[in-house]
Amino acid sequence: MAESMKGLKRTHRCTEVSSANAGETVTVMGWVQKSRNKGGIIFVDLRDRSGLLQIIFEQGEDLSRAVDAATFEKAESLRSEFVIAVVGRVEKREGNANANMKTGDIEIRATQLRILSESETPPFPIEADSKTKEELRLKYRYLDLRRPDLQEKIMMRSRVTAKIREFMTNEGFLEIETPILNKSTPEGARDYLVPSRIHQGSFYALPQSPQLFKQLLMCSGFDRYFQIAKCFRDEDLRADRQPEFTQVDMELSFVDVDDVIEVNERLLQFIFKDTIGIDVPLPIPRMTWQEAMDRFGSDKPDTRFGMELVDVSDTVKGCGFGVFTGALENGGSVRGINAKGQGEMPRKKIDALVEFAKDFGAKGLAYIAIQNDGTLKSSFAKFMTDEQMSALVKKMDGENGDLLLFAADSNKVVWDVLGNLRLEIARNLGLMDKNKYNFLWVTQFPLLEWSEEEKRYVAMHHPFTMPMEEDLKYLDTEPGRVRAKAYDIVLNGTELGGGSVRIFQNDIQEKMFEIIGLTKETANERFGFLLNAFKYGVPPHAGLAYGLDRMVMLMAQADSIREVIAFPKVKDASCLMTDAPNLVDDIQLEELGICVKSSTKDV
Ligand code: AMO
Ligand code: AMP
Repeated sequence: MAESMKGLKRTHRCTEVSSANAGETVTVMGWVQKSRNKGGIIFVDLRDRSGLLQIIFEQGEDLSRAVDAATFEKAESLRSEFVIAVVGRVEKREGNANANMKTGDIEIRATQLRILSESETPPFPIEADSKTKEELRLKYRYLDLRRPDLQEKIMMRSRVTAKIREFMTNEGFLEIETPILNKSTPEGARDYLVPSRIHQGSFYALPQSPQLFKQLLMCSGFDRYFQIAKCFRDEDLRADRQPEFTQVDMELSFVDVDDVIEVNERLLQFIFKDTIGIDVPLPIPRMTWQEAMDRFGSDKPDTRFGMELVDVSDTVKGCGFGVFTGALENGGSVRGINAKGQGEMPRKKIDALVEFAKDFGAKGLAYIAIQNDGTLKSSFAKFMTDEQMSALVKKMDGENGDLLLFAADSNKVVWDVLGNLRLEIARNLGLMDKNKYNFLWVTQFPLLEWSEEEKRYVAMHHPFTMPMEEDLKYLDTEPGRVRAKAYDIVLNGTELGGGSVRIFQNDIQEKMFEIIGLTKETANERFGFLLNAFKYGVPPHAGLAYGLDRMVMLMAQADSIREVIAFPKVKDASCLMTDAPNLVDDIQLEELGICVKSSTKDV
């Protein structure tokens, strides 16, 4: 039986009551976490988004301590997740304080109780660090979101966006919304399409980012723009990827790389200090893309630990091991990492590392396990002279008890294999300190990337990214060599955000389209509105976008961005709670002029 809250007004959230309120009468409302009937006295843990508060209902004659019989009976009926309102007196818990509870030194001696709504037994307990399978939790996400650890993360996300708005506004950025129903301009990920009813056969695309609009806003003179923008990409999902995610997006006029970096460093420092109390020392270190690949085998290096890559190509040149020399002859390289202190790793575990490497395209993984007594166990010693082996160990700074792992292939494969192996070993050995926040700018990305599938160059960031002036001369002759005025901000091995200085000169833009295989006609058809805008006075401009979900994930030390998104999708891009996407009525399709080739409906 649900009661009304008429005449009652909540005075405090649960943990806003403290011993300073002792003796006062308060009104609290929330959910029953648990209720224990000790015979004559009932203890109820009341929960709201702030935390827990203990309520006591006592039975008896002395109405200065006890509730009346009807209220006690009502209290006896309380079950988990009932929503109640309680009026009571704040009392100090003498001698039996609970140090594990924020409000553990007080309790509320109830005088009134109303049951505002009852609850069925929930499908899983509402508790921190739930052991319940994620699928079940996502089906009942509204209950999952009652769990204190998830609530904390969602509240942290709200604090982060509030701080971002505060900082950006103070720095003279204008918050401007850009459209969600857009023209499809495929380049990058796959678009989500929305059919048009009025223009049958035509489609809108949901934005992959506000990129073109923010550049147009610069053309319009708004000079500093930001937006907390929903973006949509039809990509395969991973722990740090959702089909629908949020960017903190910005664009600035009359700036170059250093200006964008400068204001963003202060932004990062501000939000990390104000929301999780972490000091970000400035300036944030910078590393070129080339250095990042050479040292870490990754364009988003986790710099919390060493185990850097070493190029041993020169050392093994001319050795007897065909795998090594073959890779060098094909223009590749041989590189290694030194897993310190792992020389006595059991063979089985080394084999597991070899298998792991193969997942990243390695044909094999060669190793030298330096035993504690200095003897070498190696998968390729028989092809090498003793001198060659010791030269290799020396080059790798190998000491007794170290494990040296080598990959030989094209640079791309070697980087990918060793970069990922380095992370895997660090994970296995617990080398990633959760309490360290290592920021890093990766700069001077290649402008273009060769796509084997498409047999053409594609833009590494996007086709509006400005080449470095000193490399413009290679655009025609060696496009693969041109570096871009592009930068990523990396935190602990995750790409938090990225951006670039944009092309604002028509001739360079045209050249760029030409190199990535877009004819003038196609470029005009797709991006004509931007190219036209550039004809009427375009300021030099640059920008950047953060993945907000990833940022909050790292701040909250969560394992997946699903934990910091209130209603996330699962791996197959569906929502387990609402069952989206779903089949629609024939009449809806009819209105849109759409005929579905085949669907599970017909099967
Ligand atoms: P980019 O494509 O690098 O740049 O995206 C910027 C940041 O958005 C985050 N991100 C994602 N987060 C969750 N799920 C996804 N599927 C996903 N995809 C990207 C990443 C990434 O660093 N317009 C440019 C920015 C610019 O040049 O100003 C852009 O979108 O954290
Ligand atoms: P094999 O002679 O093919 O048995 O290889 C000898 C050793 O070299 C094994 O440990 C293989 O795993 C390793 N190996 C094979 N291909 C490569 C490669 N491309 N890079 C590094 N090691 C390799």
